Amino acid sequence: MKFEGKVALITGGNTGIGQATALLFAREGAKVMIVGRREKEGEATVDSIEKAGGVAAFVKADVSKEDDCRTMVARTVELYGRLDIALNNAGVGRAGKLIADEDEAGFVSVLATNLLGAFLSMKHEIPAMLANGGGAIVNTASVSGLVASPGQSAYIASKHGLLGLTKAAALEYAKQGIRVNAICPAATRTEMVKRWFAMPGVEERVTGAMPAGRIAEPEEVAKAVLFLSGDGASYVSGHSLVIDGGFVIQ
Ligand SMILES: NC(=O)c1ccc[n+]([C@@H]2O[C@H](COP(=O)([O-])OP(=O)(O)OC[C@H]3O[C@@H](n4cnc5c(N)ncnc54)[C@H](O)[C@@H]3O)[C@@H](O)[C@H]2O)c1
Repeated sequence: MKFEGKVALITGGNTGIGQATALLFAREGAKVMIVGRREKEGEATVDSIEKAGGVAAFVKADVSKEDDCRTMVARTVELYGRLDIALNNAGVGRAGKLIADEDEAGFVSVLATNLLGAFLSMKHEIPAMLANGGGAIVNTASVSGLVASPGQSAYIASKHGLLGLTKAAALEYAKQGIRVNAICPAATRTEMVKRWFAMPGVEERVTGAMPAGRIAEPEEVAKAVLFLSGDGASYVSGHSLVIDGGFVIQ
């Protein structure tokens, strides 16, 4: 029960990496606020946490909208009295188009969730954390924040930008007791990757590129988020933790 008494907010917490992290935080004693756009999945995640003896609630929010980000934090503080930890994890992928064929609306929509969404989330999380003397924020970037591949310019730009935003936030609030870090997972078994793997040959190519010969499970990423959010990382800030089984060092 390493997070007993703590309150954690997780955007995109109703599926994939966010859901696995929500379950793990709850198992370690934190009260968890699941944030997402889809109510059915959100409530199902709350149910599974409660069935396992944990405490959780769901708030519907689109992180690309400032009013929604204000509401998700306000609702958390209203319900649980404080905010200690945030995982800004809501994200969308977009693959397949080279830059000359990409359209403005598609490019902007990816940045709106992956980059602006993390900014708006932190903008409202930080004052709530300052109100109780500090906290820990983790932003879900990607190995696509460190390296590039063709046909994913919007996603790659959003994740590179998110690492810069993480460093800026870490410096701005270090003296006030807020640590801000990022995680950079490689391919992880979630809905996002299942959609990508549905394209012919992709699963074999991606799995074959992984040094361990397999992709990550969401729980393996969740464990890294708990490390960065906890006392074990009390002097870690502005860091990008790569969770890729050695993929980017090849
Ligand atoms: N799965 C991977 O291989 C992988 C690798 C590296 C990074 N990531 C990142 O991990 C994060 C989680 O993705 P995942 O793999 O668990 O996939 P996922 O599709 O299961 O989770 C993404 C979640 O974000 C939610 N979401 C999307 N846009 C939103 C918005 N505007 N407001 C609120 N919620 C929104 C989705 O509904 C979903 O619940 C994303 O930021 C993704 O870029 C994933």
